[in-house]
Amino acid sequence: MLKNWIWISLSLILVMGLIVGCGARSQDANSEPEQEAQSESNSSSDDNNKATKAVEAEKIVIKFSHVVAEDTPKGKAANMFKELAEQYTEGRVEVEIFPNSQLYNDDDVLAAVQQNNVQIAAPSTSKVSKLFPEWTIFDFPFAFNDVASVQDAMESEEIGGKLFNMLSEQKLLGLAMWDNGFKQMTLDDHPLYMPDDFDGQQFRVMSSKVLEAQFESVSAVPTPMPFSEVYSALEQGVINGQENTLSNIYSKKFHEVQKYMTISNHGYLGYAVITNVEFWNGLPDDVREQLEKALNETTQWVRENGEKLNQENLEKIIADDMLKEIHYLTDDQKQAWVEAMNVVYDEFEEEVGADLINAVKALRDK
Ligand code: LMR
Repeated sequence: MLKNWIWISLSLILVMGLIVGCGARSQDANSEPEQEAQSESNSSSDDNNKATKAVEAEKIVIKFSHVVAEDTPKGKAANMFKELAEQYTEGRVEVEIFPNSQLYNDDDVLAAVQQNNVQIAAPSTSKVSKLFPEWTIFDFPFAFNDVASVQDAMESEEIGGKLFNMLSEQKLLGLAMWDNGFKQMTLDDHPLYMPDDFDGQQFRVMSSKVLEAQFESVSAVPTPMPFSEVYSALEQGVINGQENTLSNIYSKKFHEVQKYMTISNHGYLGYAVITNVEFWNGLPDDVREQLEKALNETTQWVRENGEKLNQENLEKIIADDMLKEIHYLTDDQKQAWVEAMNVVYDEFEEEVGADLINAVKALRDK
């Protein structure tokens, strides 16, 4: 009996051992392909990661610095360029936009482009004149009758061609010209009708000798200052007037700290879209082509919409009802301003060049 039990137990142990063994083997058999699949999937996700990292490493980052609000012709154009550039290059290029002087003031930004710390900037042409006095041609009072005349000037060899060519002397390359529109005058003290009304008033100007001379021609006191400081300087009475486009006045709330605005359209404000020449020429050809396409479309958009945006901003300023008076310069008053400010043309003939000044005068008198 005992023998039988021992025999049965031994058989059971043997059977169980066999079952466990088979199970273990079958588990092993299953786990091998699993592990292979696992290791295959690991290596393919490694490959994917490597590929993503490689794309990221190759990703071209373009830092684009500007000083205005996003809801302005330049702010909107910069955002549109980013969107198109990223789309057309299928993500090979990432454009980082820094608006509102977050990264640089326009006065410092050209040096940053030269050092390739930012790759694109769009300073006003007035600010380019710090490096190239000839660029101050756009600041001459009443030089352009409308935005189309500025575009004609930029497309001509004798003006646009000459101005864009000289940028390469300083490691810069001009990519496009974006319009904002025409400047208007604001003051906190009294309305500006005739040249005498400027007498002794302190106006902020961009860094441009011609703009300083424009205010001096009507006995005002010009104070060069970065755009980012204008609101608080007006609020604190460091200056009591300024000139700018309606979109800049509205988006920076200058009308809230001024009492009078004269719609004078006396001067043009536009931007030179500038890059670092080595950076741009070092881009893969296909990427550069797509970026140029994005830029051309953006330039076209600003041309068609800049003026409209400024007009909408005038309506918003009127709706805000913060100004005591908005005066539209009459033809006689305009003539008096033109005559008073005309001295500026002769004053800068040597610095800017008679050929450029004559070319602009010819456009104006057309
Ligand atoms: C200014 O400084 O008033 C302008 O240049 C700002 C701008 O870029 O439109």
